[in-house]
Amino acid sequence: MNFIFLGPPGAGKGTLAAQVAEEYGIPHISTGDIFRAAIKNQTPLGVKVKAIIDAGGLVSDEITCELVDERLKKDDCKKGFILDGFPRTIPQAEALEKICPDVQVVNFEVNNDLIIARLSNRRVCKSCGQNYNVKFLPPKTEGICDKCGGELYTRDDDKLESITHRLEVYREQTEPLINFYRNINKLTDIDSARDSSLVLVDFKKLFPAK
Ligand code: AP5
Ligand code: MG
Repeated sequence: MNFIFLGPPGAGKGTLAAQVAEEYGIPHISTGDIFRAAIKNQTPLGVKVKAIIDAGGLVSDEITCELVDERLKKDDCKKGFILDGFPRTIPQAEALEKICPDVQVVNFEVNNDLIIARLSNRRVCKSCGQNYNVKFLPPKTEGICDKCGGELYTRDDDKLESITHRLEVYREQTEPLINFYRNINKLTDIDSARDSSLVLVDFKKLFPAK
């Protein structure tokens, strides 16, 4: 099964994708995580995209589509995959339709107030990338990852001005994808304003593992 997780920043795409990847045995491909790893390692790609990402803008369609095209060719995608944060524009969705039209798009529904509360309290593990939330999904020990003992940090784009800009960019450039996919019968809505364990239960009912 090939999934696209579509939704505003802070909707819980990364949180659910990590759980689904583990339970379904398919890779979780987050373009945001790929860009952040490139920034951390100061690769040419990382240097190119850092300022855009920190400010909450979008990386160009050309760079992003090429990166995803390469990633989907890897062997671990043969059984299926979860694309988290891609596509984010109509040209990206059109490009993906050419590479891989067999996709189920999951649309994460959540309101703006909750998004801001979630993002401003998010912490991410520096080593393994696991997401936490000091308010909603805290780690067992403050500042330390439950899974690998790594240090938790706040993403540079989780500052209030970047969050606001990311939400504007989402409404303008990504939200039109809801109708794009609804019109071709590939979209399923999920209520992601609830506890993450309930979101996973819903997902498993909608898409039983094969
Ligand atoms: P990306 O990393 O994809 O960021 P995003 O879309 O802004 O999404 P987030 O990661 O902020 O939200 P999420 O839905 O994954 O939420 P999470 O599960 O962490 O992209 C970053 C940047 O990279 C972009 O701004 C852009 O610059 C660039 N980029 C990436 N892809 C691109 C593309 N295709 N084209 C161009 N540029 C691209 O949850 C958020 C918080 O809430 C966490 O703290 C979590 O613990 C908590 N939480 C989650 N679910 C629940 C729940 N059910 N109940 C309570 N708390 C919850
Ligand atoms: Mg994410």
